[in-house]
Amino acid sequence: MGTEACNAPPSDTPTSDAPALNAPALDAPAFDDAFRQQLAELFRWRRDVRRFRRDALAPGLLEGLLRMADLAPSVGLSQPWRFVTVDDPARRAAVRASFAQCNAAALAAQQAGRGGLYARLKLAGLDDAPCHLAVFAEPDPAQGHGLGRGTMPEMVQYSAVMAVHTLWLAARAAGLGLGWVSIIDPATVAGALDVPGEWGLIGYFCLGYPEAERDTPELELAGWERRAAPAVLRR
Ligand SMILES: Cc1cc2nc3c(=O)[nH]c(=O)nc-3n(C[C@H](O)[C@H](O)[C@H](O)COP(=O)(O)O)c2cc1C
Repeated sequence: MGTEACNAPPSDTPTSDAPALNAPALDAPAFDDAFRQQLAELFRWRRDVRRFRRDALAPGLLEGLLRMADLAPSVGLSQPWRFVTVDDPARRAAVRASFAQCNAAALAAQQAGRGGLYARLKLAGLDDAPCHLAVFAEPDPAQGHGLGRGTMPEMVQYSAVMAVHTLWLAARAAGLGLGWVSIIDPATVAGALDVPGEWGLIGYFCLGYPEAERDTPELELAGWERRAAPAVLRR
């Protein structure tokens, strides 16, 4: 029955085989109202950033952020995300060229009347962002022993997206902005980065200090789309 998953287990559920699971962690933090308010502000002020200052990231900052992203949930604890930092100018140029080509195609495919608006959007910060990062998913990782992806193998990609979102929030909390670039050809980018053939591209990311902080999505400010209320069905 579909509702059972949301109910508390019956009190006689056997637990004796895993006593450590019930032991309280003495150092578990207590999150207070002030923290919750700050967290809500973090969610509200996280932005997709395409306009960057060129300042380099402080030493160790990226590595610390990737360690936080690595704390994301993953199917079967498989941690299928694979991070690739991209510094090589030729590889960056290949990604930039893919973006230019795909963005031109997307412009040409716009519905009548929207092309002008699309052309004015800035949809990547590839030229200025000091840090470029590609995220891939390992499609069949040994880690996790296949748990949870028998019927839905796409859970591997979903897991990698969880890591991206964790990185996105951690970056914003550190005063950085992250911009997702998906208007690229995944095969071209994977080839340019010379990664194992089975890895699937999740996204290409620009990371750096933002030109400005905003609480409104840039696409909303540009008149492209507006944020809607959550869609919730009740059954
Ligand atoms: C899967 C995904 C792909 C995206 N691809 C792009 C992209 O190629 N270029 C871009 O400018 N923004 C991209 N974005 C950012 C969205 O446009 C942005 O999240 C949305 O407009 C809401 O703005 P906010 O993130 O600032 O709240 C992408 C976001 C997601 C989640």
